Amino acid sequence: MTVRTVAIVPAAGKGERMGADKALLDLAGTSAIARIVATCRAAGVDEVVVVRRDGAAALPAMAATRVVVVPPGGEMADSLRAANSALPATTERVVVFPVDHALVEAETVLALLATVERGAAIALPLFRGRPGHPIALRRDVFAEISPASALLRDLVKRDPARVRVVPSANPWVHADLDHPEDLRAAVCALHGEPWSTVAQMFRHRSHRAYLADPIPPPQLERLVDAARHASTSSFIQAYAIVCVQDAAVKAQCARLCGGQEHIVQAPVFVAVCADLHKIAAACGRHGTSLQAQSFELFLQATIDAALVGQNLQLAAEAEGLGACMIGAARNHPLEIAQALALPPHVFVAFGMTIGRPADDPVPRGRMPLDGVLHFDRYDTTRTDRVLDGADAGMREWARRTNATRGGYLGRPVDERKGWSDRMARMWGADSSYAAARAVLADELRRLGFGFA
Ligand SMILES: Cc1cc2nc3c(=O)[nH]c(=O)nc-3n(C[C@H](O)[C@H](O)[C@H](O)COP(=O)(O)O)c2cc1C
Repeated sequence: MTVRTVAIVPAAGKGERMGADKALLDLAGTSAIARIVATCRAAGVDEVVVVRRDGAAALPAMAATRVVVVPPGGEMADSLRAANSALPATTERVVVFPVDHALVEAETVLALLATVERGAAIALPLFRGRPGHPIALRRDVFAEISPASALLRDLVKRDPARVRVVPSANPWVHADLDHPEDLRAAVCALHGEPWSTVAQMFRHRSHRAYLADPIPPPQLERLVDAARHASTSSFIQAYAIVCVQDAAVKAQCARLCGGQEHIVQAPVFVAVCADLHKIAAACGRHGTSLQAQSFELFLQATIDAALVGQNLQLAAEAEGLGACMIGAARNHPLEIAQALALPPHVFVAFGMTIGRPADDPVPRGRMPLDGVLHFDRYDTTRTDRVLDGADAGMREWARRTNATRGGYLGRPVDERKGWSDRMARMWGADSSYAAARAVLADELRRLGFGFA
């Protein structure tokens, strides 16, 4: 058979962030590389060239697949150059298919190859306006990777006129399989929709830098409307959402929230409020008055607000936005209530920045599941083991954040400190956190909430 279409799978990295060889990741019973090869074959690719580093684990035997070996420690472009030298002379089209995008389906690869066949020099998929992988190229264009300095993105950027985009509804053209959370999201997605709600939850990260793009008002309304369909105690709907877009009001909120820069930067700062004002009005309408001192009512309103807030963050993330909750909105309850013209019986439970993310934070992961999930009875015998796991997780996050982002919010993180150190510092006897919120109860009382 004459080989005309070749898929190149660069799989020479160690998968350090993932902690595993990405080509061999188990994607619901199939290895990532086997899935890619099957996808390529279904899309009419004649041969798959997998680039592996010398000494890497052997791959499962797969039809029409060749392995090209490169020395360890090289970059993606080195792998592509090695593959370029190994292409059959008859090759007309190449599709570069990184293992990170193993969940891309044959339909996308077919569409990309068809675009190149129709004359495009380069075709790449676009998910919600963001370019992704795999990338299909004419053979002669791919050969531009030969000079040692050339990168794949240089080929794409060199002449925008020769690039065609193929819109894709599959988020995995853009999302990477980089961290263990990504793998869990991928496995969920394989059990459900390409991007299930559960997969989205696994991919959560708080974002603290945003692009200037505004959130169109219909989108913001839709997100809040969806969020308020959260469960609500006895249908009391004891919350209100104040979306702050005005630059001066946002700046005032940022100042009241400890000067957090991303509140100013985000197109929207959302004040998620516990709201008994409407219930007070309902009571007034029926000739009675609100049990404002009820601790139970305070809790119900606060829990209601938390549920709506979490729903809003998830909805925003599902639409490609990023968000960060802002507990610092409780630093000065009276002042922020005044800034937002809140009526009596309403307080800001927490804030939230929302926007198109401009950062790529290392996921924090979570403490071992054992520390959270119990069956039938709470099992305290695991606590020490759980704390060890939580400490190790925090140190690993610090190490990765320092190594890949140069630190957290511009500052190196102490890699020796674990989760328990942090909790002891925050909430131990000398807690500055508790001291910082000393006025909270008093100010909430003045806003019309009680704790009796
Ligand atoms: C109620 C609440 C308040 C928070 N307040 C802040 C805040 O004021 N500033 C901030 O940068 N992050 C804040 N966060 C984000 C947490 O720091 C973050 O969720 C946590 O460290 C876990 O990281 P992840 O969300 O990226 O997984 C808050 C989160 C919650 C739930």
